[in-house]
Amino acid sequence: MEAPLELDANTLDDPGEILAIISDPERRGALYPYLHRLRSLAPCFHTDQLTGSPAWLLTRHADVRTVLRHRAARSDHRGVEIFDQGPAGRIFYEMQLNTLLFMQPEQHDRVRSLISRAFTPRSVDLRRERIQQVVDELLDPVVDANGMDVVADFAYPLPMVVICEMLGVPAEDLPLFQRWAHDSHRRGELGLISEEVVARGEEATRGFQDYFLGLIREHRRHPREDLMSALIEAEDGGGRLSDEELVGSCYILLQAGHGTTADLIAMAVNALLNHPSQQAELRADPSRMQRAVEEFLRFDTSVQISQRVANETMQIGDQAIPPGEVCVLFNGAANRDPGAFQDPDQLNLGRDPNPHVTFGMGYHTCLGASLARLEIQTALSTLLARIPKLQFTSEPPAFRSNLFLRGLSTLPVEFA
Ligand code: HEM
Repeated sequence: MEAPLELDANTLDDPGEILAIISDPERRGALYPYLHRLRSLAPCFHTDQLTGSPAWLLTRHADVRTVLRHRAARSDHRGVEIFDQGPAGRIFYEMQLNTLLFMQPEQHDRVRSLISRAFTPRSVDLRRERIQQVVDELLDPVVDANGMDVVADFAYPLPMVVICEMLGVPAEDLPLFQRWAHDSHRRGELGLISEEVVARGEEATRGFQDYFLGLIREHRRHPREDLMSALIEAEDGGGRLSDEELVGSCYILLQAGHGTTADLIAMAVNALLNHPSQQAELRADPSRMQRAVEEFLRFDTSVQISQRVANETMQIGDQAIPPGEVCVLFNGAANRDPGAFQDPDQLNLGRDPNPHVTFGMGYHTCLGASLARLEIQTALSTLLARIPKLQFTSEPPAFRSNLFLRGLSTLPVEFA
């Protein structure tokens, strides 16, 4: 269910007004009509309205892909500036500088090559059986009930358990991680940051840091067959990850690895509930799931926005973007661009080809894409196989207020 539209997007002619609606935390449900309107009026819109400093907002599929693949467009330390809250928020800020998304290019490429060696499709495939087990364990207690909250009971715990286990975090510490992850996530919600949010973000970041440093020490003493030991062992021409890089890498794997996937699963279930005939077809032929997941990834993505800085003049369509300027890429708008997808607002579970940009591309292509695909496929296949009838309840689903990371805060369903 999408929130009702209060303003017909097609009657709006001022890109600034449209962006104000897009940024309004109360209107997250109805996002795409406004992104369409912004794309058709100002596909390369220069404004400081979104992040507080001047940036080029790109909404066309071709332009987003051009920037993602451009050798002069990198994500680096400057991308963290939007999170700067002065000395009171320093720990969170500095942690971001040590994550792949915001490292300087040279450091990024070195750290990424070390992490990806420990994060291969083969190591992901080894998780297949365990992921199925976690999905079943989450559904066991609810299948005989009348319903559940898809977000809290199913979509959220699955990727959290999976990534924590991969990193070697014991199950009893999961609640700690859930709290820290929640507080860290809120700290990233631009426009909604209060003193309290900054303080809790600091506490959560310190919690992560201390915990991971302890876990790293423990793994150094007693290496195991997990991702953490692989990260510690990763070596490239004699260079290893420093402790700061190890902590930053665990942090980004955890933060990038759970909320994004959880949100995608819940929004995919939401899409299925909104499209009963497609749900029935998928139930009738589960072999269509792999392609269907690509369409869920395109249709409503959890990572709506990425950022790049131009290191030299970049030609984007008719627009020359000068060196040093920031591009904000609207992945979700690119995925709904009629210039790239036929009937982009239609959910088409057989869509092929499906060149969505949900996992980005180029230098920062999502490292966890194969893990995310496996989790989403297993979650949806098992949910449909074990629960023969799923429907909305009288309580509607609700979107969270975050624009950059889109997701539902609740999705109550009943098993009629
Ligand atoms: C449906 C789920 C997911 C979505 C939609 C998603 C999306 C993305 C996107 C768009 C980027 C690129 C950001 C940019 O270009 O600035 C990215 C990067 C990244 N993702 Fe994912 N992701 C998902 C799941 C995961 C998982 C499960 C993991 C790991 C366990 C993960 C780890 C990462 C990491 C480490 C990066 C940074 C790569 C780099 O900067 O080199 N992601 N993700």
